[in-house]
Amino acid sequence: MEEKALIIGAGTVRRYFSEDDAIGIVEDVWRWYGEGKIAMPSKITTDMSPLGVDGWFNSMPSYIQPCGAAGLKLVGGYGGNHALGLPYIKANVVITEPATGRLLALVAGDHISNLRTGAQPAVAARLLHPQAHIVTIIGAGSQGTMCLACMEKALSLREVRVCDILPDARARFIDRFPEKPYRLIDCASNEEGCRDSDIIITITTADAPLIEMAWVKPGAVVFTMGSFTEVADDVVLQADFLGADHVGQSLHRGNLKTFAERGYITAESIKLVLPDILAGKIPYTYDPGKRAVVQLVGMGAPDLAAAKLVYDRVRSDGCRDVGVFDMNA
Ligand SMILES: NC(=O)c1ccc[n+]([C@@H]2O[C@H](COP(=O)([O-])OP(=O)(O)OC[C@H]3O[C@@H](n4cnc5c(N)ncnc54)[C@H](O)[C@@H]3O)[C@@H](O)[C@H]2O)c1
Repeated sequence: MEEKALIIGAGTVRRYFSEDDAIGIVEDVWRWYGEGKIAMPSKITTDMSPLGVDGWFNSMPSYIQPCGAAGLKLVGGYGGNHALGLPYIKANVVITEPATGRLLALVAGDHISNLRTGAQPAVAARLLHPQAHIVTIIGAGSQGTMCLACMEKALSLREVRVCDILPDARARFIDRFPEKPYRLIDCASNEEGCRDSDIIITITTADAPLIEMAWVKPGAVVFTMGSFTEVADDVVLQADFLGADHVGQSLHRGNLKTFAERGYITAESIKLVLPDILAGKIPYTYDPGKRAVVQLVGMGAPDLAAAKLVYDRVRSDGCRDVGVFDMNA
């Protein structure tokens, strides 16, 4: 039987996958997950640092019934990459045929991963606080940039405040958005950035308490997205609602990890389960008096769905500019 796999590079992915695609995919995949149409075990982290490599990577498998795709996102963070001119986060996606396991494609995953990461707070904000006008982004790196690229498509923004420990990172971030219908403010202090903000996003490489609850106004939604601790204890402990894209994974990684380890929270503490809200299983109405803290830890399924979308588009365009590998050769 013929077995031909495509190797789809970064340039092709960029041509076939946009911010709007990512927003649509994240929303669809979260809803499908809430509807029970996706099999997705929790991701597994391989930490290479004890063996001398400054890096870790996650293996993120899923089967997405509505897409007809089974596969794996492999994504890691590599401490030495910036010095080499590479992004901190590197990703690839493997797509297989669900019924047979035949390899369909190996897809360059950086652009997909970055866009789907940016689409997450865009979809979550539209769901939890659709009238939000003021957004604060703490962490002006690759993922923070993508968050704004997607947020500006999903919300009607009046003001965006960017915070980062590095002034250069803030300046580069601002340069990435030269033409915009909202004010983009360089904030040297996180407190200044957070006060009176509707949506606060933490997306840094820090392992530190970056924000305090006194800076979070009633009605605000905080999205924590970095891989380690990003808020002071009171932000989680005094939140009116805790939420997550994936409850199981959120207890084991990211900002909520140490809260679960210290016994402050359990799965039952996380009430705003975004896939369940989208699937209509949990009612939700925005309450301007309440503060929500929501961890967007990231799932592998949106990347697989995005890679499959690119694969389908490449094939319907006659497989131009991609490698075709005969698996029987
Ligand atoms: N949740 C998800 O779905 C998801 C997906 C991909 C990456 N991530 C995580 O997002 C984080 C950022 O990744 P990236 O690719 O943007 O990295 P990056 O290196 O491009 O940017 C990180 C930024 O954080 C800033 N920073 C570090 N410490 C800080 C501090 N104490 N205060 C303020 N800013 C600080 C850095 O100066 C830098 O500008 C990482 O933890 C990564 O693992 C999450």
